[in-house]
Amino acid sequence: MKELLFLLLVVTEASCRSHSTHSCEQRCKCQGDLKFTICSEANFTQLPGKVPAATELLDLSDNHIAVIPGRSFSKNRKLRFLLLQKNNISTVEDGGFSQLEFLQKLDLSWNRISTLSEGFSAGLALLRELQLAHNRLTSLDSRSFLHLDGLQRLNLSSNAIHTIHVRSFSSMSSLRQLHLEDNQLTSLRSGIFSMLRSLEVLNLAGNKINEMEDGVFKPLISMTLLNLAGNQMSAIYFKAFLGISTYSTHILLEENPWNCDCDLQRVFRKLRSIQRIYLDDYYNLTCKVPPVLRGYRLTEVDTELCIAETVTVLIITITVVITLLAAMVMGERKRKKQKKGKHWTQQGELSDESDY
Ligand SMILES: *[C@@H]1O[C@H](CO)[C@@H](O)[C@H](O)[C@H]1NC(C)=O
Ligand SMILES: *[C@@H]1O[C@H](CO)[C@@H](O)[C@H](O)[C@H]1NC(C)=O
Ligand SMILES: *[C@@H]1O[C@H](CO)[C@@H](O)[C@H](O)[C@H]1NC(C)=O
Ligand SMILES: *[C@@H]1O[C@H](CO)[C@@H](O)[C@H](O)[C@H]1NC(C)=O
Repeated sequence: MKELLFLLLVVTEASCRSHSTHSCEQRCKCQGDLKFTICSEANFTQLPGKVPAATELLDLSDNHIAVIPGRSFSKNRKLRFLLLQKNNISTVEDGGFSQLEFLQKLDLSWNRISTLSEGFSAGLALLRELQLAHNRLTSLDSRSFLHLDGLQRLNLSSNAIHTIHVRSFSSMSSLRQLHLEDNQLTSLRSGIFSMLRSLEVLNLAGNKINEMEDGVFKPLISMTLLNLAGNQMSAIYFKAFLGISTYSTHILLEENPWNCDCDLQRVFRKLRSIQRIYLDDYYNLTCKVPPVLRGYRLTEVDTELCIAETVTVLIITITVVITLLAAMVMGERKRKKQKKGKHWTQQGELSDESDY
């Protein structure tokens, strides 16, 4: 009797498993020998239970899924593409994706994720592309991407990131594209990009950057494009740009509130003379300060402004030189007078001596 019950249990479990691994969830479409499971726009509020084990692409975009529980995909280890964009995900529990050792692309954009714990990236060593745009991230810490050794493209655009820990990207020596546009960054600390030696594209457009440390771009020896358009820079951080050590890097600087003083002109002239740096939108840069130059192109105000300044500098220099010369002449005269006086007294003393 006991044995029969046991057999029955085993049989039902086996049939259940085969059911869950080979059949398609009602609201999904399974195609191509069950390699593709398409469950988009199907009103799922949690991950579907019946995804064929053979599935390599699972599309769950446009649903209402809120949580990714730990070990969610233990029956779908063949997944290579997992699309979860446009859901309601706020929580990825530790190890949520840890079973997906062959996963290449994970799309989590347009969700409500505000933190990435260490367990988030566990097991994703082969992941090449991670889409996290349009979430609610405010800071990246040293463990956010700890296990993503193979990542090549990381899209973090349109979050609210204001802080990046110096070790946030330290595991990602294969990364080629880093998209951080439309966040809340104000400064770039030296060291935050220090391990990104394969990085080709660094997009920082649409932040609030108005400060950067000298060596911040130095480790980026493969960088071909640096986009800094739409930030809060009023002056050029010459040493930071000078630190770029590639053969050729294109830099975009439009839509910053440039303070078009002569210093800026001078620094831009120096920057443009560096062979390996291309300022692609230089002719589009416009002034914000001083108020009289607001809206003018930097190249339009070029000469007038700095001739005026040169003249001022010249006048000041001449004044200083004249004053100095005058002072020297006066000093010389005074010295001569004193010398004469001394001479006389010396002579007087001598004559006193000669009296003896
Ligand atoms: C999802 O829910 C909406 C509203 O409740 C409904 O109109 C729509 O038909 C549902 N879609 C599917 C695929 O069930
Ligand atoms: C999204 O999740 C939140 C709770 O995390 C819930 O209040 C809200 O109704 C959900 N929205 C949708 C569209 O499912
Ligand atoms: C980053 O994500 C945004 C929003 O989903 C998308 O429009 C953009 O094309 C993505 N960029 C890259 C390079 O993947
Ligand atoms: C400069 O601005 C014009 C007009 O706004 C635009 O068409 C062009 O693409 C810009 N050039 C660069 C290099 O961004």
